[in-house]
Amino acid sequence: MPPEAGPKFDLVIRHGRVVDGTGAPAFPADVAIAGDRIAAVGEVSEEGARTIDASGLVVAPGFIDVHTHDDLAVVSTPAVDFKVRQGVTTDIVGNCGIGAAPASDAFMDFYKAALGAILGPVGDTLWRTTEEYYRAVEEAGPSLNVASFVPHGTLRLLAMGMEQRPPAADEMAAMTEMLAQGMEAGALGLSTGLIYPPGMFSTTEELIELGRVAGEHGGIYASHIRDEGDGMLDAVAEALRIGEEGGVPVEVSHHKSMLERNWGRVEQSLRLIDEARAHGLDATVDVYPYTAGSTYLAALAGRGDEITGTELLIVSVKHQHEYEGMTLAEIAQRMGLPLREAALRLLQEEENAVVVVIFGMSEDDVQRVMRYEHAMFGSDGLPLPTGKAHPRLYGTFPRVLGRYVREMRLFSLEEAVRKMTSLPARKHHLRERGEVRPGWFADLCLFDPETVVDRGTYQEPRQYPDGIPHVVVNGVLVVEGGVHTGAHAGRVLRHGG
Ligand code: CU
Ligand code: ZN
Repeated sequence: MPPEAGPKFDLVIRHGRVVDGTGAPAFPADVAIAGDRIAAVGEVSEEGARTIDASGLVVAPGFIDVHTHDDLAVVSTPAVDFKVRQGVTTDIVGNCGIGAAPASDAFMDFYKAALGAILGPVGDTLWRTTEEYYRAVEEAGPSLNVASFVPHGTLRLLAMGMEQRPPAADEMAAMTEMLAQGMEAGALGLSTGLIYPPGMFSTTEELIELGRVAGEHGGIYASHIRDEGDGMLDAVAEALRIGEEGGVPVEVSHHKSMLERNWGRVEQSLRLIDEARAHGLDATVDVYPYTAGSTYLAALAGRGDEITGTELLIVSVKHQHEYEGMTLAEIAQRMGLPLREAALRLLQEEENAVVVVIFGMSEDDVQRVMRYEHAMFGSDGLPLPTGKAHPRLYGTFPRVLGRYVREMRLFSLEEAVRKMTSLPARKHHLRERGEVRPGWFADLCLFDPETVVDRGTYQEPRQYPDGIPHVVVNGVLVVEGGVHTGAHAGRVLRHGG
């Protein structure tokens, strides 16, 4: 053996306080990294090729954003700066039944219109299988890790178009086969978006059957449930039933109760989830720390939801960018039209590409869900290249740490980090990630607990947070001194691989 050349470690992070992700109390320690792994946690006397002084900083596992729509962004803008600057080291895509794969040329127009409104511009290449998509991600080399669900809406579109009926046997078989193929490529499970076409046309039985396929492959069922307003409790019950009868763990996505008359109901929905857990179902939720949601206007107008106008902020359109940042009520006034007609006219003029922010949740509910023991965080940000965006795209994780932990003391820092790291890693089977532990992957976020905070607002959402100087992905610094290093250190995380 040739003599060992150079320092023992590639990177040594000294004098930080380790919050290891398990919920255990913070402790002072150095963290040494060799290659893509954490080599030691404790007193490290040996040198590293690089050293970071983490005095005054918390050294935590990198955050896992369990609910994103960054499917195309991780390929087209692989720096994914709006995420890594938050300390996010893993993005989970393919949520809400919508995703970049599988796709087919036959539906290209649909993808461009429907996906484009949520995932950002669709190029001329889409990927026929999850495996093809994964290879494209690897080729693009994003700065963070990527894992994906198989989106149910997409399967249904490919199998039976926009048919508003239960699937026939051959259509069911086609969906099952595409799902199994995705799972074998390493997808995390099945996602649904049951307010969006065509997912909204599905039956519970169809979803139980598909959920079973995901479960048999070791995956989970993540759902944007059928109703987050008046029918929310029934919709949660449906998701839990799919889990119980399909034998598959359940994740209720971006859990909330919309419309003032329904505020307070998350107490009951969390009780339903606790009851299902008591019967042995692995059921969890995710949440973003804001009282406003965001979606595309057509999804609201098409359903005849009540629109009052002042609670709807137009954040992104295709042509008339002067509307971005205005409420629907202001636009209606300018058009001289009643609200509903103004909404329809806007959709027509903008070729349906209208993204809105909707103020419809209570702060108490948001906090109640965040405090829930089995809640994790998902930004649900829509990475559109222009327009205002929802501030959650840039601020979800630092907002929890700054506003809810430091300022409001909603829960401890250790508990917040657990919900951002080990809890989602275990739920989604992201092996050897989500904890600061020797031998595990070196995905780390170094932040200042005294200053970390989001800076985006609804009018100026595209602001990087404060207090997150260093982020490490697979042993490589992707943010150093608050600056993106340009390193493309992310990987595709294949379930079971
Ligand atoms: Cu979503
Ligand atoms: Zn959703």
